[in-house]
Amino acid sequence: MLKDKNILLGITGGIAAYKSPSIASILRKKQAKVKAVMTPAACEFITPLTMQTMTSNVVHVDMFNQMMDMDVEHVELAKWADIIVIAPASANTIAKLANGICDNLLTTVLMASRSKILLAPAMNTYMLKSAANMHNMNILKSRGVKILSTQSDILACNDVGEGKMLEPAEIVEAIERELTEKDLSGKKVVVTAGPTVEAIDPVRFLSNHSSGKMGYALAKRAKYRGAEVTLISGPTSITPPNVDNFIRITSTHDMFKAVEANFDKCDVLIKAAAPADFRPKNTSEEKIKKEKNALNTIELEENPDIAKHFGSIKKDQIIVGFAAESIDEIEHGLEKLKKKNFDIIVINNIKQKGAGFKGDTNIASIVDRNKNIEKLQKMDKEELADIILNRVVNLL
Ligand code: PMT
Repeated sequence: MLKDKNILLGITGGIAAYKSPSIASILRKKQAKVKAVMTPAACEFITPLTMQTMTSNVVHVDMFNQMMDMDVEHVELAKWADIIVIAPASANTIAKLANGICDNLLTTVLMASRSKILLAPAMNTYMLKSAANMHNMNILKSRGVKILSTQSDILACNDVGEGKMLEPAEIVEAIERELTEKDLSGKKVVVTAGPTVEAIDPVRFLSNHSSGKMGYALAKRAKYRGAEVTLISGPTSITPPNVDNFIRITSTHDMFKAVEANFDKCDVLIKAAAPADFRPKNTSEEKIKKEKNALNTIELEENPDIAKHFGSIKKDQIIVGFAAESIDEIEHGLEKLKKKNFDIIVINNIKQKGAGFKGDTNIASIVDRNKNIEKLQKMDKEELADIILNRVVNLL
């Protein structure tokens, strides 16, 4: 998603500059190209050499650098950037940007820029909330500059309150969000994720290995692409992405009800969850004692097939199903596509290394109603989510 994107990282004078190398590092792991511009004050906190090492690029500090191999340095840098991210953004640089002051290389690049600008402020609470800074930030927001929130914590000055810069991973997420085309804007997407859990007694249950990662990746990317996202999730231990409507459920029956409440108004239903197909016929209110051999046999009854039900009543909705198979995956996947009336099905062989449950990667084949089969290589679940969503956009 950030592969080959040109990201200009501006660093201003503040203690949070110690986090700027981590931002560059995460961006480069995501295969973005990063160049850093530092104000003279930033160089008091970290060295240009640190940023040069982390970006693998020359660091730009000096406004009048005779040696730089660029026509007009500030204009070239401004043109190069897909996005300019100032992290940390000091009150001083925010004020200069709001008032068109260009007294160092960074503020001059900002003045020459036509790309997106994202600021990650970092300062003392009183400076952040000061009338002057609020006024300056409002001016910038009205010009389309995106300003991230700050964290509330003990600050470097020992005051407690707002003003701590967001963490590098959060800033990189914001960059990804800004650079993602909003091609699902105006669409309502419902994603189911994770396992469902069927109680045997207050202690024991039936479930499966789903971690929720595949479904959460789909919900996150759909949200980044501008959709209004409802995420219906079984019990998981991972942090849910920021979506419009997060519904936590436990059993397959709960998941059915949650989908039912959201199906009519949705444009797309993505069934990445692994609902339990069966539940114990009787759930004991009390813990079953093992001495009585009561657990030797558990009588099961079938759960509703959520996907099949909504496939059979769908109107204009697009339904993306998944198939978790361990053998003859394409054949079984095709049967499910037909039986559950999916528009496309994503088939993963859960026995393949790097595919299916728990991991960050998946290996999938995407099959449509015309039986066109696209076999994909092993990739990150977020990357796969984007490929699936590209298909959805084409169908919409
Ligand atoms: O969560 P992760 O750890 O990231 O793992 C990802 C995953 C392996 C769970 C995911 O990639 C996946 O394959 N999800 C579907 C799992 C599954 O239940 O497959 P299935 O072949 O049993 O079901 C076919 C389809 O019917 C699925 O879309 C499923 O959500 C749906 N279904 C199944 C049973 C049921 N009672 N109701 C359903 O809606």
